[in-house]
Amino acid sequence: MNSPIGVFDSGIGGLSVLQALQAALPLEHFVYLDDSAYAPYGERGDGHVVQRSRAITAYLRQTHGIKALVIACNTATMAAVALLRAEHPDLPIVGVEPGLKPAAAASQTKRVGVIGTRGTVTSAKFNALRLSLQDQAEFIVQPCDGLADAISRSVATDDDTKTIALCADYISAMGPFGSNPGEIDTLVLGCTHYVFAQAHLERLVGPQVRILSTGEPVARRTRHLLEASSALATEGPGRVQLVTTGEPAVLQAAARRWLGFATEDAVRWSA
Ligand code: DGL
Repeated sequence: MNSPIGVFDSGIGGLSVLQALQAALPLEHFVYLDDSAYAPYGERGDGHVVQRSRAITAYLRQTHGIKALVIACNTATMAAVALLRAEHPDLPIVGVEPGLKPAAAASQTKRVGVIGTRGTVTSAKFNALRLSLQDQAEFIVQPCDGLADAISRSVATDDDTKTIALCADYISAMGPFGSNPGEIDTLVLGCTHYVFAQAHLERLVGPQVRILSTGEPVARRTRHLLEASSALATEGPGRVQLVTTGEPAVLQAAARRWLGFATEDAVRWSA
């Protein structure tokens, strides 16, 4: 089936998921929707995120005829995935959530750091997940107000200063990192934007700390769902279309900086 797969995020963070999707599914067409005009999601409350998630899903279905949807945003997954699945029972939907389970399994010290937006780490879904794993590891959870926004702005200004300062503040607030008993040896990136700050985070936590993100498991899950419904594309190469409610030039610059493949020129959706 040659219809595209829709992928959305509040901004550029979901490009980290798109990268993994494109690597796993090179024959597929993708439409990537960046909702920058309504970002950040993480500090705006569930009502806003649910309303945007519904509007975007309707747009991607009506205008682009998507065959599957990937919510490349932890905050939107936490707030809206159950509702979107109920409203679109015929559409395969994959969400992203912080990888607490693989982190608990990988950690030797059984101390796992989790960074995410305030919306994600205060959600009922996240806290149920955390509770279900509480006998496997201790989770040190840090909401990172402003970090996704700083990462987005760094593309427009080509200046990472604020991103680096925020990463340093939040990492130092979580306590010692390392591989000795009592130290945090695994860090979960619970926001898709943070993948683009990974180099700064690695410098701050040190080489012994494993950093986990969710792009690859999400790509595997998407592939599996398409296979199960015989909906995989059979002819390539796939195209990647970029759509934004914000500035097309900014999305284009982010794609050039972070994706290792060509896309069509970004266009604006005036939602
Ligand atoms: N990229 C998003 C996430 O994974 C949210 C960023 C925002 O606050 O808009 O949670």
